[in-house]
Amino acid sequence: MKTVICSGSFDPVTVGHIDIITRASKMFDKIIVAVLHNMNKQACFTAEERVRLLEKATSDLPNVEVTSFDGLLADFAAQKNATAIVRGLRALSDFEYEFQMALTNKKLNPELETIFLTTRSENMFLSSSIVKQVAQLGGDISSFVPECVHDEIIERLRKE
Ligand code: PNS
Repeated sequence: MKTVICSGSFDPVTVGHIDIITRASKMFDKIIVAVLHNMNKQACFTAEERVRLLEKATSDLPNVEVTSFDGLLADFAAQKNATAIVRGLRALSDFEYEFQMALTNKKLNPELETIFLTTRSENMFLSSSIVKQVAQLGGDISSFVPECVHDEIIERLRKE
């Protein structure tokens, strides 16, 4: 059984994240969506909120489980017997950061692979930061986030 991890901050989940998770769910037996629970990093949504939004947005994918993690991703992956980390790659600008993370994780856990899925062209520009900025300034994010969590995200971001 091949288990892989889709890791990230997911602050909040976007349609780009769901596209990568959905495509990975067709390639592997089990996907663990791992939400970074980092007390030191300032996130807009709490880890519990981010997990709940992801659970709602992936509820149609039976082989996807959502959880939060703290500490090193390489250790979390070993604990879960995961063979790889799956990350979405949007543009060349993502590459340096992703390459550094992949090499660090490989050093920390030599059994662990990192697999990159290229984003769909329509999601190339999309990020959680863009979603937050547009929503907070009153813009339309309906094509940026999954429909089932849109209202919740809007309500929460407009309170910020
Ligand atoms: O979606 P993001 O915010 O780019 O995801 C980054 C994430 C959560 C994958 C990365 O920060 C991470 O794995 N953090 C856990 C700490 C860790 O393992 N650091 C060493 C490898 S960079």
